Amino acid sequence: MRFAVLTSGGDAPGMNAAIRGVVRAALSGGHTVYGVYDGYKGLVEGKVKQFNRNDVSEILNQGGTILGTARLPEFKDPNVRMLALRQIEDLEIDGLVCIGGDGTYRGALDLVRMGVPCIGIPGTIDNDIASSDLTIGFSTALNTAVDAIDKLRDTSSSHQRCSIIEVMGHNYGDLALYAGICTGAEYIITNETGLNKSDLLNSLREEKLNGRRHAIIVISEGLTDVHKLAKEIEDFSGFESRATILGYIQRGGNPTPEDRLLASRMGAYAISLFEQGVSNVAIGTIDGKMAYNDFEVALKMKKNSDNLFKLVERIH
Ligand code: F6P
Repeated sequence: MRFAVLTSGGDAPGMNAAIRGVVRAALSGGHTVYGVYDGYKGLVEGKVKQFNRNDVSEILNQGGTILGTARLPEFKDPNVRMLALRQIEDLEIDGLVCIGGDGTYRGALDLVRMGVPCIGIPGTIDNDIASSDLTIGFSTALNTAVDAIDKLRDTSSSHQRCSIIEVMGHNYGDLALYAGICTGAEYIITNETGLNKSDLLNSLREEKLNGRRHAIIVISEGLTDVHKLAKEIEDFSGFESRATILGYIQRGGNPTPEDRLLASRMGAYAISLFEQGVSNVAIGTIDGKMAYNDFEVALKMKKNSDNLFKLVERIH
């Protein structure tokens, strides 16, 4: 069989391990495999190269993606997708592995509807793909966030400050929630909890009056201007406050062993599904086991982190 693999959307540590998994599993099955550069954009432009074993050597431990990635809103245009289809037909591709987040899955679904067999692998630091307990990159990004917040706690405690840390998540709160639990943050504010500013301000003022020396607030991106929030907290509660936006640092770095393992398993699983005649599905792990769902189903599923929110309430 003939396969191709691409990475699309925001990069995530472990994407390289997934590419390697796809390529090595395809080659060991006696298949031909192509790497597509720069996501759907590269597919449209025909930036494709046949890969051998050595093309994916020494990448397992590297962050980023050797294939490069891009966001291509124009891919919604059927005329643009026709160009991609032409490349796939010219190369006689029997299966395309698309590694990325929900935008990547939507692109793959559009190709499926044009007759291209695709399999999606969840690669995003946001952990916002409901068809998988974990996405590739989440573990590494969480590690980075926890390390940063631990450091910020040191200085925040020395200076008796309130430290507001904004983490990524793209409309979904797992990164903030997990990082908040792992660092014992006093407040975790996510898309799911929402930001109730007056409650937060009143609570901080009370805490300050009761003698609290410092506080950590972990907040998901996109909810508010954290620098303005810091000023408001300072003015209202008397807590000297500082905001830190962790930003793109969360997307880089060597993948954790968990991400390397997950990505390797998923890469190989994608090829074995194609070999069994299964396609048009998004791969995931459910309770640690490999599983898959149709793209339509995967894209409609909703994540639920209620258990962790309950944990936060219990151990606060
Ligand atoms: O989806 C991954 C992500 O890193 C989000 O957490 C963030 O909102 C977004 O990508 C940033 O995207 P860009 O690279 O387009 O700025």
